[in-house]
Amino acid sequence: MTVHLVGAGPGDPDLLTVRALKLLEAADVVVHDRLVDPRILDLIAPWAEVIDVGKRPGGPTDAQDRIHDVLVGASRRADTVVRLKGGDPFVFGRGGEEAEALRRAGVQVAVVPGITSAIAGPAAAGIPVTMRGHASGFTVVTGHEDPVAGRHLDWDALARLGTTLIVLMGASRTAAIAERLLAGGMAPDTPVASIESATTSAQRTLRTTLSELDSQIINAPAVLVIGTVAGLDVMDEAGLGRLVADATVNEPSPH
Ligand SMILES: C[S@@+](CC[C@H](N)C(=O)[O-])C[C@H]1O[C@@H](n2cnc3c(N)ncnc32)[C@H](O)[C@@H]1O
Repeated sequence: MTVHLVGAGPGDPDLLTVRALKLLEAADVVVHDRLVDPRILDLIAPWAEVIDVGKRPGGPTDAQDRIHDVLVGASRRADTVVRLKGGDPFVFGRGGEEAEALRRAGVQVAVVPGITSAIAGPAAAGIPVTMRGHASGFTVVTGHEDPVAGRHLDWDALARLGTTLIVLMGASRTAAIAERLLAGGMAPDTPVASIESATTSAQRTLRTTLSELDSQIINAPAVLVIGTVAGLDVMDEAGLGRLVADATVNEPSPH
């Protein structure tokens, strides 16, 4: 029948959409990724079949094809199938490929957008991705591709854009990211914030500058925010818009 590509948001179940919650409570089959928070899996109806297709680093390269097969198979035996993905299904979630594969197999597809970690991560640390006087736009890129060896992203252009740069999947590539942006002309004192496990009990924010970024150890999953807004914590009780001192570490905060 229909496969619903559903965004689970960044982690906190309160950040699910109403439609996502309704579908989780009604689904016959839920096929989920590794990054979906256990508190969200707890919302699935007890009778539903739950399939974990989370790819592990170094896992088989045909994993995506096997996920397509699992989804097509589920759609043949169940009325309501939920394909649950962290954040938004169409932001680095391979949701587009899955939608195409399902349509090719003659399966109906519906999409339920989710709150992407690209915005919720910074927000959880008090960082607005745009702000008058700081950034009039933001750009979201993957850090998965090696910025030094890779050919797909123009890091020189990104260094010159002047908008907030948000990097997903970049926790293990901070040295290369910093190297490419500095080589592209971005100022060494540009603030950088890394928000790990945003909106979960493990949330942690690290603050530094571009030139010091390579000395930080960042635990995945993490969102990197690069630009002047990364020096702000607009929810800090000490004062709205206060510039955070460089190279500080903020432990999980209540907001
Ligand atoms: C495969 S991408 C999926 C992104 C997802 N579709 C989204 O919209 O948030 C996985 C990356 O998202 C980021 N991410 C997802 N959840 C996160 C969280 N709770 N805190 C920090 N980063 C997160 C990390 O950069 C992680 O490596």
